[in-house]
Amino acid sequence: MKISLSRFMIHFGVYLLCLAAWIPLVAADNHGGDSSVSYHSQIVPILKRSCQGCHHPGDPNGDLIVTTYADLTRGGMAGESIIPGKPDDSLLIELISGDEPAMPQNQEPLSAEEVEMFRRWILEGARDDTPVEVDDMGEGNYPTYTVPPVVTALAYSPDGSTLTVSGFREVLLYDTVNFELKARLVGKSHRIESLTYTTDGKVLGVAGGSPAQFGEVQLWDTETNTLIKAMRASYDTVYGLSFSPDASRVAFGCSDQTVRVLSVEDEKELIKFDNHSDWVFGTIFSVDGSHFVSCGRDTALKLVEVDTGSFVDDINSSNKGYGEINTIARHPSKDQVLSAGEDRIPRLYKIFREIRRDVGNTDFNLIQAYEAQSGTIEGVAFSADGSRFATGSAGGEARIYNVEDGKRIASMQGDAVGVFAVSFHPNGTQLATGGFDGKIRIFDASSGKLLNAFMSVPIEPAGSEDVALVVTGMT
Ligand code: HEC
Repeated sequence: MKISLSRFMIHFGVYLLCLAAWIPLVAADNHGGDSSVSYHSQIVPILKRSCQGCHHPGDPNGDLIVTTYADLTRGGMAGESIIPGKPDDSLLIELISGDEPAMPQNQEPLSAEEVEMFRRWILEGARDDTPVEVDDMGEGNYPTYTVPPVVTALAYSPDGSTLTVSGFREVLLYDTVNFELKARLVGKSHRIESLTYTTDGKVLGVAGGSPAQFGEVQLWDTETNTLIKAMRASYDTVYGLSFSPDASRVAFGCSDQTVRVLSVEDEKELIKFDNHSDWVFGTIFSVDGSHFVSCGRDTALKLVEVDTGSFVDDINSSNKGYGEINTIARHPSKDQVLSAGEDRIPRLYKIFREIRRDVGNTDFNLIQAYEAQSGTIEGVAFSADGSRFATGSAGGEARIYNVEDGKRIASMQGDAVGVFAVSFHPNGTQLATGGFDGKIRIFDASSGKLLNAFMSVPIEPAGSEDVALVVTGMT
């Protein structure tokens, strides 16, 4: 199986949660009574069955996308294919009609009734009667949990006052002195995969999305805990968010095998790097922001120039069978990247090559390979002073090492099953871990002693929340 067990468990855990705690609230469909053709209940099902396969956002044949009303009515290569009120002037009708209709291409033609339905819908004005989705989740109306969510990401704020933790559809902010819940930031992304602060701590970046729907990067103002903007990209969850040093750009990895770099100011996609051959899980910028490094399932660690978006180098020798790279972290002050994943061995590399490749493809950029962990590595982090790093693995363990001599400083049981995220307190004295069992654990970073453990989200007793949600939906 291609997907690693722990990643599968993350997904499985979140799906369980969807079933338990999230019911989309859809307003009553106010269509009915009259006999006009309904876009939502009559046209959309035909589009889904016979057209969407070749006209979806990932592969819009003829530049036509039929998955939303706005896209459908925008038209394709030839312009608008639907002229409201005028079926005979509408390209779409022309293409689906006749003895040998052009669309759906090379497939069973639509039935005469279905073609007639399209004609009438257009004649009646091609109206959009899609019901509005009521989504009133947010301040004061938070997701409810009956089972602990898998913790996929956590991060300390640079001033050390806040520990930010991933939830379902939200991130939760904990006070680092009394570990009380300070705030909950609810967004549209069902899954949160990555959390990172800008260096000045003014902005919290959250990356994730909703599977098979959209990927999203949310930027939150850390002073007011309000959403600055949410930028969408790709049609699936995104991973491994990083900010450029001046915080003007964000980079992240996608399941469509690309790395995207967006401009924070105007949300423009500056780079769509497509040199990976599998999902991309991690990104980091070089110290001066001139380059970024990306990693993923294809086992590669790639160096890319930011200005041109062009590929510069394979940092590691991926032919050595190191396996999928799940996570990377950059040294806080040096152009060095720590890479880790499937083969359980954390490796520290120079980002920029000093010795040219040879025929044996020797791993010349490698500074040091560390001790093997007890399971696939899912999370790594440097301490703020760069002297130590921590790992979290599918073995349920977290460990802390000296960067310089590779000496193990502490081993900790960071989760009952698997640790997916680790973060050092900026003052270096504590390490926070999160993983499969949904608990946050705080350890002393020198002794490895457990200082505190608490559930990442408030858990409701089973059975009560469905009623509550239904009542909310009806008022
Ligand atoms: C098997 C793939 C496939 C399916 C299924 C399909 N199309 Fe197409 N469609 C195409 C291709 C390819 C084009 C580009 C023009 C061409 O090469 O003929 C196209 C072009 C079009 C265009 C013209 C867009 C433009 O502006 O140039 C329309 C309208 C259209 N399709 C409608 C439909 C509708 C409606 C359905 C479903 C009933 C459908 N298509 C199903 C492949 C498909």
